[in-house]
Amino acid sequence: MANCKSWFVCCVVALGLLGAVALICLGVAFFAVQGCPSGSFGRAAVSADSWICSKAGRSMLQQGGSAVDGAIAALLCTSVVNPQSMGIGGGSMFTIRSKTGNVKFFNFREVVPKSFKENLLNDCPTTFRMSPGSQWIGVPGELRGYEEVHKQYGKLPWAKLFEPSIQLARGGIEMPPYLAKLLNNSFVKNLVEKSSLCKILCDKNRIVLGKGDILKFPKLAETMETIAEKGADALYTGEIGQDLIKDIKDAGGTLEMEDLKSFHVRVEDAWTVPLGNIRMHIPPPPSGGALLAFILALMKEFLPNQSSLDVYQKTQMYHHYIEAAKFANGLKRSIFDPKFNKTKSANHLIDPNFINHIRAKIVSNRTHDVSYYAVKPSSDRFGTTHVSVLDVDGLAVSATSTINEIFGGTIYSPRTGIILNNELTDFCGRADTVRAGEQPPSAMTPAILETQSGGLLVIGGSGGSMITSAVALSIINHLWLGMTLKDAIAVPIAFVDSQNNVKFEPGFNTSVIDGLKALGHKVADTPYFFNVVNAVEKEDGCIAAISDSRKMGVPAGY
Ligand SMILES: *[C@@H]1O[C@H](CO)[C@@H](O)[C@H](O)[C@H]1NC(C)=O
Ligand SMILES: *[C@@H]1O[C@H](CO)[C@@H](O)[C@H](O)[C@H]1NC(C)=O
Ligand SMILES: *[C@@H]1O[C@H](CO)[C@@H](O)[C@H](O)[C@H]1NC(C)=O
Ligand SMILES: *[C@@H]1O[C@H](CO)[C@@H](O)[C@H](O)[C@H]1NC(C)=O
Ligand SMILES: *[C@@H]1O[C@H](CO)[C@@H](O)[C@H](O)[C@H]1NC(C)=O
Repeated sequence: MANCKSWFVCCVVALGLLGAVALICLGVAFFAVQGCPSGSFGRAAVSADSWICSKAGRSMLQQGGSAVDGAIAALLCTSVVNPQSMGIGGGSMFTIRSKTGNVKFFNFREVVPKSFKENLLNDCPTTFRMSPGSQWIGVPGELRGYEEVHKQYGKLPWAKLFEPSIQLARGGIEMPPYLAKLLNNSFVKNLVEKSSLCKILCDKNRIVLGKGDILKFPKLAETMETIAEKGADALYTGEIGQDLIKDIKDAGGTLEMEDLKSFHVRVEDAWTVPLGNIRMHIPPPPSGGALLAFILALMKEFLPNQSSLDVYQKTQMYHHYIEAAKFANGLKRSIFDPKFNKTKSANHLIDPNFINHIRAKIVSNRTHDVSYYAVKPSSDRFGTTHVSVLDVDGLAVSATSTINEIFGGTIYSPRTGIILNNELTDFCGRADTVRAGEQPPSAMTPAILETQSGGLLVIGGSGGSMITSAVALSIINHLWLGMTLKDAIAVPIAFVDSQNNVKFEPGFNTSVIDGLKALGHKVADTPYFFNVVNAVEKEDGCIAAISDSRKMGVPAGY
């Protein structure tokens, strides 16, 4: 009996201790969550282009999903809310950092089909304009990519990731404000009204939908339902693929079922570049990662060491930045599909010797002609979306996805509801040949940065050629000039176009513009700034998430 009694006492004591420990744990967790500044999150967050899609991602995380589940759900949702930016008719690049710090790059960007138009590059635009046309359609990789990253990192069932988007596509959503604004632009309005997209984006008088209208994608909802049930094979080997190929052929394109069947996701290690105390993980070529790293590595030595700068210091900072961007323009041709050219790759862009060599060519008191930077003028582009996700287990996903230009090549597949990419125009001005299976070079650069103190910044952008400037300046502003992540992204940018003219986003400091003009920079105007940066940062246990207000984005976390 004595034994039994002491056992009972032990048990009570043990339970009491356990309870106390549990209470302490709860208290600490509560304090950690409560301890984060307002507007930041304690556990996980998603920064997508729209609130509705940030929430679609968050709902996956809250149901026990991983950051990859969240990113896929947010992107599928974006294909409905911002159908001009991306969709399952396009391709993506994902940079994924595991909890233990291993960083992988998943590349499922479109490739050139086996058969393509002879002398395709002769069709390249020589001035700034959109490139509709079925000759530019690359083999879409989006769903094969989702399948691969989900296989490796997914925690929720595949079909679950499609639920929010199927519901939006079928039930309809009130016209998203950013899309309404875009469709109200006379240039985009004309483009859409004259294209097959009018079937989903116009009213019965063939006028584009606007504010207050309901946007629906019934065919896409059906397609997504089939894919949710049967997997990516429904598109790559099954009936949806056959329907898509029929529609592409009806539009004059060259894609065959064989192109879909042979699409493969490429998986490799991300490149890691040191930037002082920071370790930056970037996607390798044909992504734009090396150009971003090149600019940041150049800039590191030129940066003022304080955050509050006078006009002279600010002008010098932007002068050096613009010089770096001019050299980066001259180096764009170093970015190409490494599978198709063993002779030369972008490795030198992150080589300290090469960076020092270029740095020595930058002088503080003047700029130079285009030839000094070896720039071969081409034309600029825009489009794309980015989503940054961090989950409660510490998995980080930086994902950039695109159908290239606004609504891709404006080709809609009526049998499947899919909008097709015009990715092959990315070869224009940056390559002299095009080969079957090759991926076009890209500006996309989904990045993940680690600070010495253990902080993590998951960042990337959209806006075609503006991606590099937008992401580079956000990182400089935040990590080196000490701005908050929100301010760092919100500050108007300076963009160096492909002719090396400098374009200032509205609101850019006019005294600095005058200073830069005095240094000889050629300034040009553009009504179009499509730069958008979405980022998530974890520092001291708290997560800041920023979706760029330029695209009316709002992040979601918990
Ligand atoms: C559409 O554009 C016109 C001018 O082009 C402008 O007056 C109007 O306010 C815009 N409407 C919306 C909803 O943005
Ligand atoms: C900042 O840089 C200036 C000039 O390069 C130097 O004189 C100064 O000591 C630096 N200040 C700090 C705090 O590092
Ligand atoms: C431009 O920047 C300088 C230096 O930071 C600042 O003093 C000035 O007020 C700014 N000008 C404008 C118009 O914002
Ligand atoms: C490889 O790249 C270099 C440099 O861009 C170029 O000169 C060469 O023609 C390319 N070779 C092939 C086989 O594409
Ligand atoms: C720039 O500075 C160099 C020396 O640092 C000087 O020789 C040159 O004249 C200056 N150029 C201009 C345009 O001020």
